[in-house]
Amino acid sequence: MDPIRNPYAPGAGQRPPELAGRDEQLRAFDVVLERVAKGRPERSLVLTGLRGVGKTVLLNMLRSAAVRKGWGTGKLEARPDQSLRRPLASALHQAVRELGHPEQDQVEHALGVIRGFVQRDAGPQARLREQWSPGIDAPVVRGRADSGDIEIDLVELLSDIGGLAADVGKGVGVFIDEMQDLGPDDVSALCASCHEISQSGLPLIVVGAGLPHLPAVLSASKSYSERLFSYQRIDRLTRDAADRALQAPAGEEDAEFDDEALEAMYAATGGYPYFIQAYGKAVWDHAPRTPITAADVELAAPEAERELAVGFFGSRYDRATPAERDYLRAMADAATDLGADADAVGSVATADVAAVLGKKPQSLSPARDALLKKGLIYSGERGRIAFTVPHFGRYLRRQA
Ligand SMILES: Nc1ncnc2c1ncn2[C@@H]1O[C@H](COP(=O)(O)OP(=O)(O)O)[C@@H](O)[C@H]1O
Ligand SMILES: [Mg+2]
Repeated sequence: MDPIRNPYAPGAGQRPPELAGRDEQLRAFDVVLERVAKGRPERSLVLTGLRGVGKTVLLNMLRSAAVRKGWGTGKLEARPDQSLRRPLASALHQAVRELGHPEQDQVEHALGVIRGFVQRDAGPQARLREQWSPGIDAPVVRGRADSGDIEIDLVELLSDIGGLAADVGKGVGVFIDEMQDLGPDDVSALCASCHEISQSGLPLIVVGAGLPHLPAVLSASKSYSERLFSYQRIDRLTRDAADRALQAPAGEEDAEFDDEALEAMYAATGGYPYFIQAYGKAVWDHAPRTPITAADVELAAPEAERELAVGFFGSRYDRATPAERDYLRAMADAATDLGADADAVGSVATADVAAVLGKKPQSLSPARDALLKKGLIYSGERGRIAFTVPHFGRYLRRQA
């Protein structure tokens, strides 16, 4: 069918033509927004799940919901080995702009605090170029959020921004993607300041998204984090939602899938949103006419898999060194040895991986740690690991 009218959108963070199966999270977030704006205690949302389930897209939708309510919002993506100061400063700068506080001197003050906060990253000795803070021309405010202790600074900064929002009867939302990649000091400071802010009833929330072990990262940092955040597991779509994700956009273009085609699509994609978009796109391009049939799905599958091999799996696999690839393949083998379905999201014992490779577990720690850091695997419980990418085991076995 006409590729120009192809509605599907495979790609990280690509807004899907139909956001299926996320009504519950959207509704829950509306309640959070209302309550926080009224200064009532409320746990913020943290979205967790494997890669490709739609966390980034949902996080962006939550942000849009906040914007529609007149909130000031900002977003950042955490990166390993990067301090929170700079990206957070830009996100808050954006949020302050969106708030549209009518009194210029108060806005200037808040921006000046943000500048002091970010300059602290470079240290007082830093050259001018490093002190440059994008787009903020307000004079630096000294003695606020610039102590160098991230916890103190974050509490002061978020309190000031929250206060600015409270002044105008609005809220501020800070959206953090890939939250598991924040450094330990930043995580701990973030939890502490969210705790403080919620106690003072200021209308500011941090909304996060990250891999399945994010709750463990947060609670290892501060035991009370479970009471700060409401964890929402974002998972593959149910059959119903997956059908809707395909049918609704097709319907917009006066096309449809027949029943067997929908069944074949679910069998191939497992309901994982990224796979749904990739298959949807390939099948649309291959199908000669509507309705799309199971035969069309079968014909287009190799193309969809090729796309996924490059865009979804390959880009991650490429980041692994030879030793790390051996480790990944051993993980896939360990899963099959157990008789488990290696495509399932199951975890394997690190001891079993070592056994597959015929090595001592300790000697494999460097490979395992590097893979954890690269976000290819995660550890939800001690001594066990799992792929962060669904169907990764299957992809690896096909490689071999
Ligand atoms: N609820 C949904 N319904 C249909 N497609 C979705 C949904 N959520 C995400 N997608 C699609 O899935 C893909 C991955 O989404 P993304 O948000 O990048 O996942 P993650 O951040 O969890 O890795 C994108 O192509 C997106 O369009
Ligand atoms: Mg993402």
